[in-house]
Amino acid sequence: MSMMKGRDYIETQDLSIEEIQHLLDTSAELKEKFHRGEPTPLLPNQTAFLLFFDKSTRTRNAFEAGMTQLGGHAHFLDVALSQISHGETAADTGRILAAMGHGICVRHDLILGQGNQYLREMAEASDVPIINMQCDVDHPTQTLADLLTLRELHGDNLSGLKVAVSWAYSPAYAKPLSVPQGLITLLTRFGMKVTLAHPPGYDLLEHTVDHAKDNTVKSGGSFEIVDSMDAAFEDADVVYPKSWGVRHLMEAKIAAKDETELHAIENECLTSNAKYKDWICDGRRMKLARDHAVYMHCLPADRGSEVTDEVIDGEQSIVFQQAENRLHTAKAIMACTMRERPFS
Ligand code: CP
Repeated sequence: MSMMKGRDYIETQDLSIEEIQHLLDTSAELKEKFHRGEPTPLLPNQTAFLLFFDKSTRTRNAFEAGMTQLGGHAHFLDVALSQISHGETAADTGRILAAMGHGICVRHDLILGQGNQYLREMAEASDVPIINMQCDVDHPTQTLADLLTLRELHGDNLSGLKVAVSWAYSPAYAKPLSVPQGLITLLTRFGMKVTLAHPPGYDLLEHTVDHAKDNTVKSGGSFEIVDSMDAAFEDADVVYPKSWGVRHLMEAKIAAKDETELHAIENECLTSNAKYKDWICDGRRMKLARDHAVYMHCLPADRGSEVTDEVIDGEQSIVFQQAENRLHTAKAIMACTMRERPFS
């Protein structure tokens, strides 16, 4: 457990393969003990602050329940009810919370160009681990759970597994780019053959695409980008279709002066999404993938838009295994990075 004590967990790309393996092994051990009903009080009396700039079901509850199960306590902080909404800086907030507890977990995912920078500024100013519960660049607690799920299905050696990460239609809201970015950067480190598919204009951040390409050189995997969901699904072992926002509109949000402007950008994004309603994961598309292929989604999924009920509720779907693994991986990340005071 000691190898990562005091470390931040902001992007999986910041971690070594050994550290990621260590987190997966710890998650598996904690999962086994949870199912046996064996207590795991690894962080007795410790406090984790959970700071949310956005909504959450899985992440919040994985961290809150997880911290209780580790013997500590998690405080939920709604940014709108804190002095952050009056302009208190990331550095000042981080320094103050760090003085009162043992870890700070942050979700800041809606504005492209802000969230990751916020976490990095907070990390610079605080001496407790900063854990990324989803930013604009990565969703590393989700992708670790996804990797654990794939390891449970296929064992430790995931080399050569063909994974389709595809855009899918959503009428709900302009979703962050961080899940597909997190997937292409993490899965390519484990030798997987990753195909990213999206319509024109839905490009991911260039540096995450560059990481994905570079990772394949070391891991022996592959990475390609196509403009067709069908092409990505062809012979895939794993399909992971989900929605995200139009790149230039997501970037435009940072300059929005008020809620009215943000709302207008959001509507423009949804109008663009509606041009691609046929980007849905349905039974026909699942047949393009290999017979044993699995359907993955971070959830919440837009049923009837991103995916049909037939697929998400079908035998190939492993979404609830992924969701459960959010608990075990959140616990592993906190247990491996947080430490008792006084810090040595
Ligand atoms: N997958 C995920 O992060 O879910 P929540 O938004 O509910 O936390």
